[in-house]
Amino acid sequence: DKAGRRHFMEKEIHEQPESVARTLSQYISAVDEGFTFPAGELGLKNADRLIAVACGTAFYAGATAKYWFERYARLAVEVDIASEFRYRQPALPQNGAALFVSQSGETADTLAALRHCKENGVRTIGVVNVPESSIAREADVHLRTLAGPEIGVASTKAYTAQLSALACIALAAGASRGVMTAEETADKVRHLLEIPRLINEVMQVEPKIEELARALTRHKDVLYLGRGQFFPLAMEGALKLKEIAYIHAEGYAAGELKHGPIALIEEGTPVIVTAPWDELFEKTISNVQEVAARGADVTLITDAKGAGLAGDGYNVVVMPTCDPIAQPIVAAIPLQLLAYHTAVFMGTDVDQPRNLAKSVTVE
Ligand code: F6R
Repeated sequence: DKAGRRHFMEKEIHEQPESVARTLSQYISAVDEGFTFPAGELGLKNADRLIAVACGTAFYAGATAKYWFERYARLAVEVDIASEFRYRQPALPQNGAALFVSQSGETADTLAALRHCKENGVRTIGVVNVPESSIAREADVHLRTLAGPEIGVASTKAYTAQLSALACIALAAGASRGVMTAEETADKVRHLLEIPRLINEVMQVEPKIEELARALTRHKDVLYLGRGQFFPLAMEGALKLKEIAYIHAEGYAAGELKHGPIALIEEGTPVIVTAPWDELFEKTISNVQEVAARGADVTLITDAKGAGLAGDGYNVVVMPTCDPIAQPIVAAIPLQLLAYHTAVFMGTDVDQPRNLAKSVTVE
């Protein structure tokens, strides 16, 4: 049932205020706004290292969480693509844990990586959407995302549910490690609880995004840029466009631009930049100016403060102002909508893109 929408993906994008709220309510007590899940069982209190292993969009969720674990819990995190991790001889944490992020809970490489860690005595934590799946059952600790069934092959609501759960886990780890005071934690929790409302608000950019999507259909290559916690989001935005609109796209760290990819920029090259205002904003904008000076057609996804500081000459998409912990979750929505509307204009099979399967159970 598509609930009156053209595609499951469209329905799932618009469901995110509810799927995020549902997921957060799994972790946060409505009564005292504290964490309700057994944070002590995660083994992160005295850990010196966390490894996070996943594939595709789930990997980008883990890559975003790295910024949170480092910032809020002072915990060293390594993120790995499961198909690489399992065939290396990774040095496993002696005093740490391994986190596996998966919507389906059946991704063959992620499951193999989990089994490898278990066999070697590493504590395993699964952040999984399908509760009866292999990863959910086999992980020492199963932390659920409550996105509900995701039918569209391209992950949308599962991704924001993963980010929501991971934000809670990182903050709880920070509290248990004494990095965050009770007051700081409570403040962050309040900001997390605002995310469903902020996602509702950011949906208002849809008509503007649709216009931008129409223009993208004329292009063969699109560059996505981000810095800090928006770097993994740039890669996720690019993946969405590739998989459903069949347009080549690359996500890059804004600061890496001048080390190569800026050579690709010519008159009219579309560059999508996600940069709500934060302490890195000025740095990102200077990269934006560099590509704009070479003729790039820049779309800047930012908030009111960023829009005020950015200057003219860009397509600006204004998202609501939010706390840093909420920014990458809220900013994911314009990127999902951009890929979705571009795919609709291209006439692709949005829910069943070619060559792709919802759950990759082969290696
Ligand atoms: C992209 C997408 C895939 C999955 C990846 C992992 O939109 O859906 O990249 O994220 O195949 O799948 P799970 O999360 O089921 O392990």
